[in-house]
Amino acid sequence: MKVVIIGAGVAGLAIGWKLAVGGAKVVVLERAQVGNGATLVSGGMLAATAELGSVSSPDADFARQANALWPDFAAALEAQSGFAIGYRRNGALLLRLKGEAARPEGPLSGERTALTADAARQMEPLLGAEIENAIFAPHEAQVDSQALCRALAVCFVQAGGEVRATETAVRFELTGGRVTGVVTPFTTHRADAFVIAAGAWSARIEGLPPEAVPPVVPVKGEIIVLSPPAGVAVPSHVVWGNGVYIVPRRERVLVGATMELAGFDTSLTKSALTWLRRQAEGLMPSLKDWRLSEHWAGLRPAAPDGLPLLGQSVDGLFVASGQYRNGILFAPAVADVLSRLILERIAVDPAFDPRRFAGTKSPLIVPQTPHKEGGNGAWPTVS
Ligand code: GLY
Repeated sequence: MKVVIIGAGVAGLAIGWKLAVGGAKVVVLERAQVGNGATLVSGGMLAATAELGSVSSPDADFARQANALWPDFAAALEAQSGFAIGYRRNGALLLRLKGEAARPEGPLSGERTALTADAARQMEPLLGAEIENAIFAPHEAQVDSQALCRALAVCFVQAGGEVRATETAVRFELTGGRVTGVVTPFTTHRADAFVIAAGAWSARIEGLPPEAVPPVVPVKGEIIVLSPPAGVAVPSHVVWGNGVYIVPRRERVLVGATMELAGFDTSLTKSALTWLRRQAEGLMPSLKDWRLSEHWAGLRPAAPDGLPLLGQSVDGLFVASGQYRNGILFAPAVADVLSRLILERIAVDPAFDPRRFAGTKSPLIVPQTPHKEGGNGAWPTVS
């Protein structure tokens, strides 16, 4: 079987790797460079609890399923690529500041334990006096998303896959209602199956009937990277609170991320920088002395209901998109369900059916961060 995947981010490469190991001949088309969409500029938190809470819902259950796959996925990636990917399951602190309303929490369990502010400060000495209390989520993990991307690309190629960078998928060709080819500026690729794993760009390939176009919208996120003064240690855990997260990565921290509907704009803004710094300093006041060393922007792919789009769209065409805030976490589970669907025809959870919006106008509900005036503006409608 030959499969063409559009998008060399974490989803496309993870699916490609799994399919190639399963015996398929796989080509990945990438409009830019490997990981250049959201993957390389993501925080890399595997944050099932912090992102999706502890109750049961299709995406939260999928997140837990993915989180359970991560230790083996990470070990296989490292063993086969020879690269360390910085996978660490050492938990996250979910902080509540003084004067803040309590988070709506389900019952605490082994997945989450309550901490006093002092106990949280013992775990993370940089935390300031404004902490009211905390929850510790021990199963939260993190990965260096840049190292992950490199390792995935190596594993995919070692398994026989081919990456064609700077080759944009422009238009699908259909024969009798089935997708049989994808046209790029260089050639037309023919295959038995095609997968759209193009993140925020998933809706931009021409030639499909309207109901088969994945209804994703880009949600911009800016992240800053701070370096400590000499002799200051970085935190040990991922920390969430005050509208941001702080992620230790090697000798620096990432602070993210804004949420903004700004089309395909990935400009770096002063307002985001100022807001991210201020919110992070509200958690860890001494971060004011840390040097800004990088500033990134990326685009998350969001479906109108915030759930992933996973499954068959039309004959011959599959979709792996709409991962929204959880693209890195979901990756091994996305690779599993898509490869089983394509190779073995095993159905995916209907809650993720990419055709579930067909014929409806669905409002995209995205909370936006108040980092600039108008930041909580109108919510667009996608069809
Ligand atoms: N998962 C974090 C973010 O999307 O900002």
